Amino acid sequence: MKTEELMNVDKEFLPKHIAIIMDGNGRWAKAKGMPRHYGHYEGANRVVDIVRASSNLGIEVLTLYAFSTENWKRPAIEVNAIMKILIKFIDDKLDELAANNVIIKVLGNREPFPKDVMASLEKAIKKTENNTGMILNIALNYGGQQEIIQAVNKAIQNGKEVDIDDFKSYLYTENQIDVDFLIRTSGELRLSNFLLFQSAYAELYFTSVLWPDFNEEELYKAIEDYLSRNRRFGGL
Ligand code: IPE
Ligand code: IPE
Ligand code: MG
Repeated sequence: MKTEELMNVDKEFLPKHIAIIMDGNGRWAKAKGMPRHYGHYEGANRVVDIVRASSNLGIEVLTLYAFSTENWKRPAIEVNAIMKILIKFIDDKLDELAANNVIIKVLGNREPFPKDVMASLEKAIKKTENNTGMILNIALNYGGQQEIIQAVNKAIQNGKEVDIDDFKSYLYTENQIDVDFLIRTSGELRLSNFLLFQSAYAELYFTSVLWPDFNEEELYKAIEDYLSRNRRFGGL
């Protein structure tokens, strides 16, 4: 499907919230005989393309899994490279992202991040907080189980029983809409602790394309697949 065709699809049929597990950076680099961080670097460039394309389509929320609570298990050299790339990404791309009218939010526990990473994230949040376009959630040091547990603890502290909507207000996504469409690149068929609560009724899309190769065309292909799904939510 071409951009213009997708642009003409009634917004009601498009996913309002797209979440992406951006996987395969390391394998992409390895296949090119390059170090893993090169894959992360190139992967960051795709983020800008996918944000622009999603925002142009009128997607309301885009959530990108950038670093999981489990990714700290990787060698320090790789974790440090990812942090550097994150800072560089914000330095280089924040103006462009802000010009797309996106509102940047960070999902996850920010405490363990080094000061320079925190400062970059805060700069991005502050610069875009008054924008009115797509919400761009960057899931960083994010774990779905951890998110649910901290929400349960907040509810306990409040001392009142909660319903589903109350509970959602305690999640990192606060009161954002649930995930409609969950994409994972690189051929792995698992959720890896991503948005466990919010994806209760998400349509799933797995592609073997590695994240640094996931361009606008791949996004449109995925959305075309989504448009062919019959979402029943338990009904008939
Ligand atoms: C995804 O790519 C990015 C992060 C987890 C930070 P990977 O680094 O997991 O790439 P593969 O899966 O090893 O190819
Ligand atoms: C999931 O990818 C996390 C991110 C994309 C940030 P991983 O590469 O860490 O997941 P596993 O280890 O294959 O489950
Ligand atoms: Mg991986």
